[in-house]
Amino acid sequence: MADSPAAPTPVTGPTSDELRVLVLAGGLSYERDVSLRSGRRVLDALRAVGVEAELRDADVALLPALTADPPDAVVIALHGATGEDGSLRGVLDLCDVPYVGCDARSSRLAWDKPSAKAVLREAGIPTPDWVALPHDRFSELGAVAVLDRIVDRLGLPLMVKPAQGGSGLGAAVVREAASLPAAMVGCFAYDQTALVERYVPGMDVAVSVLDLGEGPRALPPVEIVPRNGVYDYAARYTAGRTTWHAPARLDAATTAQVTEVALAAHTALGLRDLSRVDLIVDAEGRPHVLEVNVSPGMTETSLLPLAIQAAGLDFGRVLGTLVSRAAARRR
Ligand SMILES: Nc1ncnc2c1ncn2[C@@H]1O[C@H](COP(=O)(O)OP(=O)(O)O)[C@@H](O)[C@H]1O
Ligand SMILES: [Mg+2]
Repeated sequence: MADSPAAPTPVTGPTSDELRVLVLAGGLSYERDVSLRSGRRVLDALRAVGVEAELRDADVALLPALTADPPDAVVIALHGATGEDGSLRGVLDLCDVPYVGCDARSSRLAWDKPSAKAVLREAGIPTPDWVALPHDRFSELGAVAVLDRIVDRLGLPLMVKPAQGGSGLGAAVVREAASLPAAMVGCFAYDQTALVERYVPGMDVAVSVLDLGEGPRALPPVEIVPRNGVYDYAARYTAGRTTWHAPARLDAATTAQVTEVALAAHTALGLRDLSRVDLIVDAEGRPHVLEVNVSPGMTETSLLPLAIQAAGLDFGRVLGTLVSRAAARRR
């Protein structure tokens, strides 16, 4: 009696091999190529577990297609603003099409790094000290005076990165005050607002959080070792530029602490299904959360698939469970 008000809420929907899934990939962000690689990988993995899946871009043909032939669920393999700023999720909500991942509001919050950091700090989760500076304010207040104050307050080195963005684009480490103006200009090429953050030396670690129906759990932390020391765009997507260790080479106590902080960040931001928490573990073993991704990369060299493998799980089955759960949310 599906209509009975007393019927229990289903934990999962139909089995994944009865589902029709639309994988969204491409978009017009700087991360288009990465997204297309993520999308194809997700498509193959879903098909391998018997899910009927199709790949599509988020373009003018999308809404007519969703209306004419609504899928049971959508997987958003779009990175950058299209996949992560919440707007596409809002439109899917309007169309009553369920999707894997968090809702529009939480996505928007996580996407804006300064807003997310404020929430994390409020929740007692460690994140490096920062200031967010829109280009207009930077000019109005006088660049030199503002930059002097930032260096006085936050010290050196600093990390400059777009307030909204990803894949390391527009980001720079600033080791001396004289290089700060150029880093700001480089950053403003990618976003109206620059996030200037205290640089924390240490180990780059990504913790993927997954909820397959029993509540969020953290997968083994993945350690990232970029060959030239900087985890920028080239290091991420060029074969041989980066080495990974999954699980990260951390002792048990540090692993437990990193895992706990990642789960706390996922929860504080109100996330759902999956996320990837990027953090630095400093020389004392303390974690510092940099950002949380709601549409993490799914390419062959991406961190979430590596973590899934390190946890002894199958990528296709995990996706199958996530799409079943999303489909069960349809109103
Ligand atoms: N405050 C910081 N201290 C040290 N390294 C940082 C800091 N912020 C960013 N990084 C480095 O830059 C990379 C990208 O930063 P992140 O905030 O994750 O942005 P995104 O992945 O969206 O480009 C991190 O993985 C890390 O290597
Ligand atoms: Mg990151």
